[in-house]
Amino acid sequence: MVIRIIGTGSSLPQQVVTNDGLAEAVDTSDEWIFSRTGIRERHLVKEETTASMSVEAAERALINAGIGAEEVDLIIVATITGDYLTPSTACEVQAGLGARRAVAFDINAACSGFLFALHTAYAYLETGVYRTALVLGAETLSKIMDWEDRSTCVLFGDGAGAAVVRAFNGETRIRDDGSQWLEEKGKGGLLAFEQGSDGARGKVLSCKGRENNNLLVRNPFTPSYVKMDGQEVYKFAVSTVPASIQRVLEKAGMEAGDMKYFVLHQANIRIIQSVAKRLKADEGKFPVSLDHCGNVSAASVPILLDEINKKGMLERGDKIVMAGFGGGLTWASAVLEW
Ligand code: UT7
Repeated sequence: MVIRIIGTGSSLPQQVVTNDGLAEAVDTSDEWIFSRTGIRERHLVKEETTASMSVEAAERALINAGIGAEEVDLIIVATITGDYLTPSTACEVQAGLGARRAVAFDINAACSGFLFALHTAYAYLETGVYRTALVLGAETLSKIMDWEDRSTCVLFGDGAGAAVVRAFNGETRIRDDGSQWLEEKGKGGLLAFEQGSDGARGKVLSCKGRENNNLLVRNPFTPSYVKMDGQEVYKFAVSTVPASIQRVLEKAGMEAGDMKYFVLHQANIRIIQSVAKRLKADEGKFPVSLDHCGNVSAASVPILLDEINKKGMLERGDKIVMAGFGGGLTWASAVLEW
């Protein structure tokens, strides 16, 4: 069984807010934000919603894969910012696509969410339960930001990314343009996963849900916003991510030097540089989208994957690592042969 990503797509809100634009409303500067993080601008929603961006990203991924919505068996959306508590964003994607056969649900693993969702889809596909999955990371983080808290609101952005994942069992797939991909048994695709959680340290990056409110206890509804101990999360990231990548490479029987790209969660350019250094890998192998997207949590990895795919930077046989880390705390890595 070979399980491949056969298509990618993404969707970003129309509106772009630069660091200078932000500095008109928040006590900050382009100099501070760029030098500390590498972020220049981010997309923020005006009309868009988590579901609308997800549907658009999913439609683009299906077009890129050359398959129709009716072929999708499973939809998993990783998000912490769905438009509703229920229905899930995944169910909204199913409705938006008309993917009537699909089973749909959301996953909450914050910035590691896309990798957690991908691993979950892999498990369903690998055991033969389903054949074709749509895996998304989608966030409207701007609605859970405290716009008075400059230590968090400058970091995050909105957007969605999607990947079509399919299990092949030695059959030929014919694309829309008539070309054929012969899928050989046991070669390529998703090769190894590694993931973990550390709930004991979870409160260093949090956003509270609703308070108890019933006949016994009254708590009027008050909105809650993201709170982060940036330095603790930074330390967690620079130690955990390289270790996770080393472990997943070992599982795949490969080395950092075998990888063409390291597609990391986009939180801070200094974290990316530190991971590159610890892995003794060339920084040029770490594509970046945070300069124009900011940190889009679960959507960072699939948006970046789609960007490099669209630019034609991925060729059949290329090996890449994808890695996410963040709230929970959680982390996850995967090795993939394109
Ligand atoms: O996806 C989830 C994962 N999240 C992360 O990976 C975030 C990891 N952490 C980081 O990336 C960094 O810790 C930050 C970028 C969040 C912060 O960078 P830092 O170098 O750790 O800055 P700091 O929090 O130590 O703040 C330094 C100074 C403070 O001023 P004083 O106390 O030194 O006078 C802050 O008040 O910078 C000040 N500051 C700002 N100044 C201008 C904090 N935010 C801002 C701001 N503009 N937006």
